[in-house]
Amino acid sequence: MTVIKPHGVTIKATAHYLPERVVTNADLEKIMDTSDEWIVQRTGVRARHFCAEGESTREMSFSVLKDLLRNANIKPDELDLFILATVGAHMTCPSTACQILGDLADDPEFGHTNAGAFDITVACSGFTYGLNMAHDLMASGQYRNIAVIGAEHLSQYVEMTTRGRGTAVIFGDGAGGAIVSRSDNHDHGILAQMMRSDGAKWGELYIPEKARDIPEQTHNDEMPLGLMRMNGRAIFKFAVGTFGDLIQQTLDKADLSPADVDHYICHQSNVRILEACRERFGIPQEKMPINIDRLGNTSAASVPILFDEQVKAGRIKPGQKVMFVAFGAGLTWTSSLWQL
Ligand code: UT7
Repeated sequence: MTVIKPHGVTIKATAHYLPERVVTNADLEKIMDTSDEWIVQRTGVRARHFCAEGESTREMSFSVLKDLLRNANIKPDELDLFILATVGAHMTCPSTACQILGDLADDPEFGHTNAGAFDITVACSGFTYGLNMAHDLMASGQYRNIAVIGAEHLSQYVEMTTRGRGTAVIFGDGAGGAIVSRSDNHDHGILAQMMRSDGAKWGELYIPEKARDIPEQTHNDEMPLGLMRMNGRAIFKFAVGTFGDLIQQTLDKADLSPADVDHYICHQSNVRILEACRERFGIPQEKMPINIDRLGNTSAASVPILFDEQVKAGRIKPGQKVMFVAFGAGLTWTSSLWQL
């Protein structure tokens, strides 16, 4: 049976927010046993932004949401749904997404909305999972505008000491997002998408809250509760293979070759992982942009921040094909190939 799409789906607006505070590798050298040379060689990171006191997932996401509404020129009551992807929800209940809509209601420029709102926890894959969900909900014909934001306050989960250097040097804070909207052009929308996980590997990257959260066989049991534990080497190995396979499988689904895609907006995990992938497919550097040198790994925020930067720089244009690709804790991996 042929499925007739009621309409197309488009990305109507993008935005991002970075905390003002910049922490360079030289700053880290002063507080832990590490070096600029080690960090650049192993990760590609030169600097990252960290939240200031009082700044968090909620404040960063609120700023992005306001910019998205302004850029898309839509009023709060025209927003039907808000999906917030983060590992840094403020409370178990309610969702940070609902709190942010509360902030919007208190803001005289915006005001109240009854848009649906919820958080999703998919770590670095979160924004791309959210984009796929928003697209398919939109395709149901029952929504007009959905905001998807990826926001992370990861500096709160790392320890700024030599003991914590395995994660402290990699991660950064930030937020980015997009408004997914109905389009009159039926050709606009997702050509192929994937959302996958391997729950057997969750212990490779996690943030334990209680002692019972820590698996018996753990690679690093020295970090205090509430801080991130990561088996970097295992994730690196996993990522190099999975990232490439994910791109290939997504291209196969859409019956496209690597050169048919105009831009690959990839999760900024480690420049070595991205380079390996670029070389495997012969993708030119300008089609797979990198900003991990300036921002570090911002988890769910990395894909939407990079996308917004490329859109604002005029490099991504309507009519082009863009593949979003991410992997992260869970372990999870995901892609979303769009005809813009
Ligand atoms: O967003 C998705 C989630 N995470 C990732 O994508 C992370 C994937 N993994 C990675 O990017 C890399 O594994 C890391 C960058 C985390 C680590 O790089 P690596 O090449 O796998 O290093 P390693 O953990 O094998 O450590 C090599 C050496 C060790 O010393 P010895 O045992 O060889 O003497 C570490 O103690 O480097 C040492 N080391 C450091 N030295 C200076 C570890 N961290 C640091 C550091 N500065 N920050």
